[in-house]
Amino acid sequence: MISEPPPSECFVYIALPGATDLVTAARFELTADRNGIPLGRLVYGRSYLARADAVPFDPVELTLAPRVYETTAMQGVFGALRDAGPDSWGRRVIERHVGKTSRTELEYLLHSPDDRAGALAFGLPPRPPAPRRKFNQTILLAKLQAIADAIVADKELPTDPDVTQAEELLLVGTSMGGARPKAVVEDADGLWIAKFNRPDDAWNHARVEHAMLTLARASGVAAAESKISSVGGRDVLLVKRFDREKAAAGYRRARMVSALALLRAEDSPQSRERWSYVLLVEELRRVSAEPREDAAELFRRMCFNALISNTDDHPRNHALIAKARDWTLAPAYDLTPTPLVSLERRDLAMICGDRGRYANGKNLLSQSARFLLPNEEASDIVEAMRNRVRGTWHDVARAAGVSQKDSERIAAAFAYPGFDL
Ligand SMILES: Nc1ncnc2c1ncn2[C@@H]1O[C@H](COP(=O)(O)OP(=O)(O)OP(=O)(O)O)[C@@H](O)[C@H]1O
Ligand SMILES: [Mg+2]
Repeated sequence: MISEPPPSECFVYIALPGATDLVTAARFELTADRNGIPLGRLVYGRSYLARADAVPFDPVELTLAPRVYETTAMQGVFGALRDAGPDSWGRRVIERHVGKTSRTELEYLLHSPDDRAGALAFGLPPRPPAPRRKFNQTILLAKLQAIADAIVADKELPTDPDVTQAEELLLVGTSMGGARPKAVVEDADGLWIAKFNRPDDAWNHARVEHAMLTLARASGVAAAESKISSVGGRDVLLVKRFDREKAAAGYRRARMVSALALLRAEDSPQSRERWSYVLLVEELRRVSAEPREDAAELFRRMCFNALISNTDDHPRNHALIAKARDWTLAPAYDLTPTPLVSLERRDLAMICGDRGRYANGKNLLSQSARFLLPNEEASDIVEAMRNRVRGTWHDVARAAGVSQKDSERIAAAFAYPGFDL
């Protein structure tokens, strides 16, 4: 049998602001240039451009215009599209599903299920499919956890005589980004990202992340809503999706782009120069409908990450969303403390001041003007947040159900001595 070559183009669909169904918006082609470098091309459809309610895919790159956009960056996949595609966890699920042979970036986009972040979707037919009406209910969490465990361990999936392996995978299959095992589930309140603990975790991540989101809110940071669900003795973190809103006919979707896309940066080490809160706040001030509020919010978030040693604060862990036309900073998510050994110097993933990535109060203050904060106000924020984190993290963690043992395991993460040097 001759296998078909992988597709080299697809349609891009979008749920317009307020709508629950998809419309066709653009064509995306992924080929290679003369040197074999992946080349992406995107053209908005004429009928899409003619709509009064058309919106661009992102606030920086793909503006609404009758032209051919081209990129050779990021494997030829424009940032806004890549943000809607799977990351390492979603790719792993897809590979279990369709086989491990190397997949093109376009195949990953096409194979990912329709629960992806943001308002975009992809497909081969010129007309979009009907939106998915049914989601896994939280009742299924125990089963989803078992499937996730099997995928993590690269083991056979738990067998159920009534369903095929493919159907099992579709259950957990999520194109939400990130590396941790996760699935999307629904309850009466709406859609949640279920983040599962892994058997090899050094502490109960679900409880600890829930505690960090709670501590963030108590520290003045706008963080995603979360709760814990315990199934079969295992804790699962549920984070409310801020890019979906329940409506009578289904779910309204917000557009979403990561800071990685906004910074036009990549995951590669060479691109790390652009991994920067200081650059991000400049971009944010240009595209946000609330530049002053969002700049201050980003400053608080950066301080919070430094105070809990969240050194995994890479640019995919920050995003902008647009529920209607305007873009604003999305709530904070994926907040994890890292109890590092060094007491003097810890580095965030993004540059945060004159002294680079150094998670240090003075360094954070060194560029506060770019966050539109007068010196005194910025110092007050740092001071108040430091006291809050240092004074309350333990109580907040215990109240969130983090065990005393786990609290001891993560203790070194909070307000480490180097922050005050
Ligand atoms: N509450 C939310 N609403 C909508 N989208 C979200 C939400 N939380 C996270 N996301 C999206 O899902 C992705 C994965 O989530 P998250 O970062 O929490 O997972 P992770 O596996 O811990 O990531 P990492 O690999 O960075 O450790 C994010 O990059 C973001 O695009
Ligand atoms: Mg993440």
